[in-house]
Amino acid sequence: MLSTNPFALSDTRAPLYFSDKVALVTGGASGIGMATAELLAREGARVVIADRCRDDGEELAARLRHEYGQALFVETDVGCASSVQALVGRTLLEYGRIDCAINNAGLSETPVDLIDASGEQWERLMAVNLRGVWLSMQHQIRAMLDAGRGAIVNVSSRTGLVGKPRLAIYTASKHGVLGLTRSAAIDYAPHGIRINAVCPGLIHTPFVEQKFGDGLPELARTMNPLGRIGRPEEVAECIAWLCSDAASFVVGVSLPVDGGAVA
Ligand SMILES: NC(=O)c1ccc[n+]([C@@H]2O[C@H](COP(=O)([O-])OP(=O)(O)OC[C@H]3O[C@@H](n4cnc5c(N)ncnc54)[C@H](O)[C@@H]3O)[C@@H](O)[C@H]2O)c1
Repeated sequence: MLSTNPFALSDTRAPLYFSDKVALVTGGASGIGMATAELLAREGARVVIADRCRDDGEELAARLRHEYGQALFVETDVGCASSVQALVGRTLLEYGRIDCAINNAGLSETPVDLIDASGEQWERLMAVNLRGVWLSMQHQIRAMLDAGRGAIVNVSSRTGLVGKPRLAIYTASKHGVLGLTRSAAIDYAPHGIRINAVCPGLIHTPFVEQKFGDGLPELARTMNPLGRIGRPEEVAECIAWLCSDAASFVVGVSLPVDGGAVA
């Protein structure tokens, strides 16, 4: 019999083979990052969760260790160069290498007209959403160059592909992530490092709960052709695929995971 949801994930999909791989997930303590850390751990990876939220990160790492074996939390601010350097250093010390890195930590913005946005808003958002990805890639790529292989997935947004009213700074930061991704992808593919991005649409995480609250179900109905909000696990599946050897010929893409919103 057909499932009522023709797009439901199958329990029988092929394993992604992350056995013994080392995966670093920034912003891994919540939402899309948490779902990704959990999926990779379930698929056999040793996961490093980097987040500035210590309690949630420690709790998740403890749960993943209990359920799947190895996992580590490192308190990190991706907007701070010394913090990112310490994160990569600690990962190499504990696990010896980085096979995949997911640069997912990001902040949202309260909608505001461009002419009213403050310099402080610009600095705060760019520091995490754009500088954070640039700094993280710098240190991750240095580590991957030594190994001669690796995969990086940057988390942009549907708003990295199209404009959004009253969200100019967030939109600019997410467009920037795609620029960094494409440029780095070209530079480092010859060194065996594949760099790609995902562009999630509306996904049910604390990030959007906070932003839209009770208006979320109605908004979701009109947001995309599927007429529903996405689940963090649905983005995690795409990230894991891009990290895996199943995507061995995929370089520099910006993959919408948005229920068809951009289409
Ligand atoms: N949820 C959506 O609808 C949606 C849509 C498009 C893109 N995104 C992007 O997906 C990513 C994850 O979003 P989410 O919805 O899971 O959000 P979330 O708020 O649930 O999780 C974000 C995590 O990043 C961490 N973080 C924030 N600033 C940090 C910093 N400076 N250093 C380290 N960690 C930091 C937070 O503590 C949190 O754990 C973000 O980059 C966001 O822009 C989300």
